[in-house]
Amino acid sequence: MWLLFLILVVGLVFFFSPISFRIRKNIFLTNYSGPIKEIPDNFLWGCATAAQQIESQTPTDWTIFEKKCYAEKKFESLGAGKPKAGHIHRLGDYPLVVRQKKTNFDELYPQDLTLARKYGQNSYRFSLDWARLFPKKGMKKPSSQGLDYYHKILEVCKKNKLTVSATLFHFATPAWFWEELDGKRGWERNDALELFAQFVEAVAVNYLGDIRHFCTLNEPIVYLYQGYLEGVFPPLERRGDPQKLAPLVVRMLEAHKVAYHILKSYGERRNIPIEVGFTQHMRRFEPYRNWHALDRFSAKAVEQVFEWDFCDALKTGVYHMHMSGFQQEIPGLKDTWDYLGINYYGRFYVKTNLLKPFAFEVLPHDVRNKRERKSELGWAIYPHGFYLILKEAYERYKKPIYILENGVADSADDDKLRQSFLVEHIREMQLAMQEGVDVRGYFHWSLIDNFEWAEGFEARFGLVKVDYMNNFKRIARKSLQVYKKIIQEKGVSQELFQYYSQQG
Ligand code: BGC
Repeated sequence: MWLLFLILVVGLVFFFSPISFRIRKNIFLTNYSGPIKEIPDNFLWGCATAAQQIESQTPTDWTIFEKKCYAEKKFESLGAGKPKAGHIHRLGDYPLVVRQKKTNFDELYPQDLTLARKYGQNSYRFSLDWARLFPKKGMKKPSSQGLDYYHKILEVCKKNKLTVSATLFHFATPAWFWEELDGKRGWERNDALELFAQFVEAVAVNYLGDIRHFCTLNEPIVYLYQGYLEGVFPPLERRGDPQKLAPLVVRMLEAHKVAYHILKSYGERRNIPIEVGFTQHMRRFEPYRNWHALDRFSAKAVEQVFEWDFCDALKTGVYHMHMSGFQQEIPGLKDTWDYLGINYYGRFYVKTNLLKPFAFEVLPHDVRNKRERKSELGWAIYPHGFYLILKEAYERYKKPIYILENGVADSADDDKLRQSFLVEHIREMQLAMQEGVDVRGYFHWSLIDNFEWAEGFEARFGLVKVDYMNNFKRIARKSLQVYKKIIQEKGVSQELFQYYSQQG
């Protein structure tokens, strides 16, 4: 009896001690050294991009924001990876031609996509810009110029045997969508779903067949967090309390549902099998201090609201924001997903801070841990978390998974950090697959450097560098070759792993 008591006390002391915190957090890679199963031949290997980040400016809410920042000289940030509300970091360092043309993808896409193919990729994820198809308010039909733009890109994809995954909403919307109607703007307008449906329908009518894999929404929760709480993305609002965002989450779920049904019904009518899902930004949220019960509690709460509540709604048809108790059934939503998309970048820490509006803060890395590897945006790198998330997501939903983004900000030409990031993360994905998780594709973020939203052009995510000041010249980084090797070898061989892992 006494012995049992003693074991319990020692166990509890250990559990709450800083030592246990260290032991738990220092697991960087999944501990496995045996052989790993090869990735199947029909797996999609590619890269992901988004319209506003690489294409020339069109009349979107983001374009207006970009122009306004430049005109008002709002170029600041609060440090690496800490965008300042209403600013675009160092935008003023880049000339008009770059601000307008972004990466000049409009002219260089044949070159970019051919390069992707040459380096072994068999697929490509991009987003269709709503404002390119419907640049003006009240248009009954999509612009033929806009339609042509993507037809040409799709042609080049076809020529290069790149299977396409297209996203319908990746943060930017037409500027006219933000004109007030009955006191509401954007996604809150009473006619928002109708307007979005018109765009989705145009996509279905014109591109179905050439596109068979659709992602309705990119990271809806990130969008709401950045746009309505932090004020760093348009519409630049700071509503103060995450609980107030519940109706907006519902609206995003409805937009997903509308798009899903339109695409599926066109697919069925034309007998074209298509896959439709959405993609969620998933981080590991960990307590900053493992011994601190409140840190642990908050980390779980943040994870729930940020990751699972939205996905759960697709499973059940009911949106339940656990943080607030808000619940709403959304008729027609249940099971409107053929797959779950996951975007994974690393881990964040949650620390109780009673002085902050929500009594906690989210930290992008652990300042106490000098050895923690992080990206140039200060985001903690955590490959083991990728494995954990894949396992958990599959366990919860039993849906096929596509990794629609995974990448790291590293601007070096010999981008060692990205090379190790690639082998370590893809190996974690393989381990999860080996244990039964049904992952069907991996899209690296990103093919080329691009406009990183409020971080401006400074954060570099490309396997290929864009030399903005030298006529947008493309320069392949070392990691492009590493990715090719991984694809050729159907995953990360022991050799590749030993050579590239932890070099960063
Ligand atoms: C977004 C991308 C972005 C990337 C890197 C994701 O949250 O979908 O648009 O560039 O992260 O920050």
